[in-house]
Amino acid sequence: MEIVIQPTHADAAVVAARVIEDLLRRKPNAVLGLATGGTPVGLYKELIRLHREAGLDFSGVTSFNLDEYVGIPSDHPASYHRFMHENLFDHVNIPAANIHIPDGNTRDIPKFCADYEEKIRQAGGIDLQVLGIGHDGHIGFNESTSSLVSRTRIKTLTEETIAANQRFFKPGEAVPRHVITMGVGTIIEARTCVMLAFGAGKARAVAAMAEGPITAMCPASILQMHRQTMLVIDPPAAAQLTKTAYYNHVYSNKPDFQKLSAFPVV
Ligand code: PGA
Repeated sequence: MEIVIQPTHADAAVVAARVIEDLLRRKPNAVLGLATGGTPVGLYKELIRLHREAGLDFSGVTSFNLDEYVGIPSDHPASYHRFMHENLFDHVNIPAANIHIPDGNTRDIPKFCADYEEKIRQAGGIDLQVLGIGHDGHIGFNESTSSLVSRTRIKTLTEETIAANQRFFKPGEAVPRHVITMGVGTIIEARTCVMLAFGAGKARAVAAMAEGPITAMCPASILQMHRQTMLVIDPPAAAQLTKTAYYNHVYSNKPDFQKLSAFPVV
């Protein structure tokens, strides 16, 4: 895992956007796995800027989102459909037909999930997956104790996640208990993963994920078994890591050919 500590959230977003830009310039029909929540907003802003000011082209891109709430309308202000359109899709030239987000209103959740997996396979697999991390170490909505080989399915959220996401709902409005999420096994099949994490509230999860044991108690820790994962964080999120000096040393001494991206297009 490559750990990149940037001075600010905005700097980190630029680093992550550069990795995606590098991928899209080399592989314009790349398949992106996308995430929602507060974490990737700065990254999406930077991608929009690159689209507007540097001609970054999304016309060949296919996307698969990690997750969606079950049982709220897709135009609900807290839905991930709405989030993705407001924060990225409405501002770049990705074709609507290439966008995939789990349907939280499907009548047949198991069939929808199996079809979602099949669509990812038919698209050739995910080239680059954007990830955030929950305070408990979840990725997607794979809460602690999720199977580390799980596939896309329904999950029940923990009280901690429900409380963390209350801010996206009106005061007093119930946060859905259920979600559809790509599985941990689905996520780690992505050729490259780029995880972002910001703020002191994520420090414990970041340290558990990068330096702790691989355990279903911290589903993100499975990324230690992934060949191409980049973790881009700010200093508060790095505060509980023990080998920070080494990570900074590696990043500042990267050979030129690795500077933009360590990751080959497969
Ligand atoms: P956040 O959520 O980006 O809103 O902090 C991250 C997550 O729960 O995966």
